Amino acid sequence: MTALRGFAALALFLFPAFGADRISFDEYRGRRAELRKANGDAVTILFGRAEKEHGDLRSGFFQEANFYYLTGWTEPGAILVMTPSSEVLLIPRRNEEQERWTGPKLAPEDSGVQAATGFDAVMAAETFEANLYKWAESGKRIFTLFDESQVDDLKKLLPLRAFSDAKLPIARLRMKKSPSEIALIQHATDVSMDAHRAAWEMARPGAKEFQVAAVMSGLYFSAGCERHSYAPIVGSGPNGAILHYSKNTRTIDRGELVLMDVAAECAMYGSDITRTIPANGKFTARQRELYDIVLGAQNAVLDAIKPGMMLGKTSPNSLNKIVVDYFNTHGKDKHGEPLGKYYTHGVSHHVGLDVHDPFDPALPLAPNMIITVEPGLYIPEEGIGIRIEDMVLITENGGKLMTAALPREAGEIEKILSPRK
Ligand code: GLY
Ligand code: MN
Ligand code: MN
Repeated sequence: MTALRGFAALALFLFPAFGADRISFDEYRGRRAELRKANGDAVTILFGRAEKEHGDLRSGFFQEANFYYLTGWTEPGAILVMTPSSEVLLIPRRNEEQERWTGPKLAPEDSGVQAATGFDAVMAAETFEANLYKWAESGKRIFTLFDESQVDDLKKLLPLRAFSDAKLPIARLRMKKSPSEIALIQHATDVSMDAHRAAWEMARPGAKEFQVAAVMSGLYFSAGCERHSYAPIVGSGPNGAILHYSKNTRTIDRGELVLMDVAAECAMYGSDITRTIPANGKFTARQRELYDIVLGAQNAVLDAIKPGMMLGKTSPNSLNKIVVDYFNTHGKDKHGEPLGKYYTHGVSHHVGLDVHDPFDPALPLAPNMIITVEPGLYIPEEGIGIRIEDMVLITENGGKLMTAALPREAGEIEKILSPRK
């Protein structure tokens, strides 16, 4: 009991506020150390997002994922500079006018700025250019993110320096999740599974697709999650065959399937889950036949998942090939043709800070990676789209289904949906 109380007190200290960042400064420091090691004798310069770019009225400000991964810093306008022998976080000086609009921010002149950021060196972002040449001289090349808008300005300021894209070196780190990341992704997954369960009640003939999406997002927003992991996809009947359908405006009809690809992002980490259910509670014979083929393909992948398998369509040990082979040897379309051609995407992607988390396609699966397994069949001619998408944590010998608590079997789903008129 005493030990439990001790743990609770420690947990309160480590995880100070609900929904707040629960990854320690030491962990961020460790990530930066690993990146510096991987980038060797180089200087890494990363720009966090500025308020004016993404802090718009529609979505609210949120941090660039790579910057967040390395710093845990969620306020706008920050810059990270890592030389072979130092690292510094630059944050904007206090701007009272801006703070009236979007609230107080930590400023470099504030006391306790090191303790609040986890950086020994914190400087004013306004001094970046004045120090840039000194930092640039301390390494052989500059790593930065080529996708970000500031990279052209940086290249203009340092025209004689060699630049490399930091995307892949950071992706290699992001692929393997730490215990605290796994816990956060499991939390987003648990909340998303609750959202799916709640939606099954709403997804009936006569309901609008957006009403189903509203039940789901209402559930995870009220659970304290800050964003959709991606725009909710609720596709009834023929809309289920549109892979990233997100208009969600149609009325669900009798006898149709409803495909719900919906998940939350909570404390910056997302999930990605799809279920396909019959609107009136029971699959037709044809829907059931196709559903069981998709489930069979998913189970074949789940059985094969282990370190060493690959995600690429043409790579050796390809998980994707298992799905294509399964579809081509089970069932037929209305013309007697194999079903493989109705599967039009990849079976897996990594999930983390981004729903499509960056990865190095040359690297095989390894323990602590988190991927989806999402086979699907999309047959517009039959007005049918079926996808079953689950989250899997790669373990030493196989995979752990993070979504095991949400039924996938057709019979189990029908049982939950009945009685239904
Ligand atoms: N929800 C997007 C995807 O499954 O990739
Ligand atoms: Mn997915
Ligand atoms: Mn999905």
